[in-house]
Amino acid sequence: MLRNPWCLMSFPVTRLRRLRRTDQLRNLVRETRLTPDAFVYPMFVCPGEGVRKEIRSMPGVCNLSVDEAVKEAQEVRSLGIPSVILFGLPDKKDEVAAGAWADDGIVQQAARAMKREVPDLILMGDVCLCEYMSHGHCGVVKPGSTPQSLGAAARDALSARQGVVARSRGLAVRSREEKEKVIDELASIVASVVSKFEIDNDASLELLARTSVSLTRAGIDIIAPSDMMDGRVAAIRAALDEASFINTPILSYAAKFASGFYGPFREAADSAPQFGDRRSYQMDGANLREAMREIELDIEEGADMIMVKPAMPYLDVIAAARDRFDVPLAAYQVSGEYAMIEAAASNGWIERDRVMMEALLSIRRAGASIILTYHAKDAARLLA
Ligand code: PBG
Repeated sequence: MLRNPWCLMSFPVTRLRRLRRTDQLRNLVRETRLTPDAFVYPMFVCPGEGVRKEIRSMPGVCNLSVDEAVKEAQEVRSLGIPSVILFGLPDKKDEVAAGAWADDGIVQQAARAMKREVPDLILMGDVCLCEYMSHGHCGVVKPGSTPQSLGAAARDALSARQGVVARSRGLAVRSREEKEKVIDELASIVASVVSKFEIDNDASLELLARTSVSLTRAGIDIIAPSDMMDGRVAAIRAALDEASFINTPILSYAAKFASGFYGPFREAADSAPQFGDRRSYQMDGANLREAMREIELDIEEGADMIMVKPAMPYLDVIAAARDRFDVPLAAYQVSGEYAMIEAAASNGWIERDRVMMEALLSIRRAGASIILTYHAKDAARLLA
């Protein structure tokens, strides 16, 4: 009867549809399951009181003042979701990201209030400088070969190209070709200014470490660095240990790719870089082997858990990481992944709940045990 020696038995003896016949059978043989205790819900905390401002590109997700964030945290906990990750929108930004490490920083305030009101919720703190820097980069910006302030470099570049500046006034009345030409020229001016600056890796480490200690002091349970500076896990571990926080785990955004899928987040956290992009520190989306090196280094530096981000465009990276490393693995289903599902659903082009669960399941099946997702609350409700 064994016609195909390499597979046990074939049709008509084997019929895979037998186990797909009913809900109960499908449930019995399901290989991957979603449960709310895999979810982490991201929250954006802003100054003020009673503020609940919906993010235009992320319907259903809001900037929340501390009091509203506490209410939201209670709701999250009541849905069986064990954890939130906090991002902050400071009332002012500067060139040293003071809002990230100040004792009364916005995330520090939220952490204290949440620890008091919802003590058994695990608080993760995203550690990055971009939301707190006036230039929106994740590290300290320093002049490259020509030491000059950003403003001065911009003024120099513009005064050398007065012609295009003059033509750019009255842009609205010009023809399409003319407009495109002016815009191209302006872009090249911006690029010439930007190329004079770089993100200073080692100077950023000190600020990231200081931020981590300050957040932990305020009640954050897990430190999650997302800046992608080299050596930041070791710097943070050393600083936490020095401050006697030897038991605070680090969840490293180890393989974080430079991605167009972060678009809506940058509106939510008001953290878009004012010039250039993040490609000199976040990873190139083409590189799987390099992602493995990033993860390996972070584990060596002391990361307790690792993360791959974004999720759905990088499921292969999640699967490879699961295969290779024996630490808890998280994946971040980012703002653009959320926004695409919401936008298509609101047009009636896809079934929202079904696609939401399928996307989350794919991340789980690829091997992530923890999923950071803006859909956490809605998915938990469906699973209840
Ligand atoms: C901060 C940070 C970003 C995200 C998480 N932490 C933005 C970025 O790197 O530009 C993105 C999350 C999302 O898109 O949902 N560096």
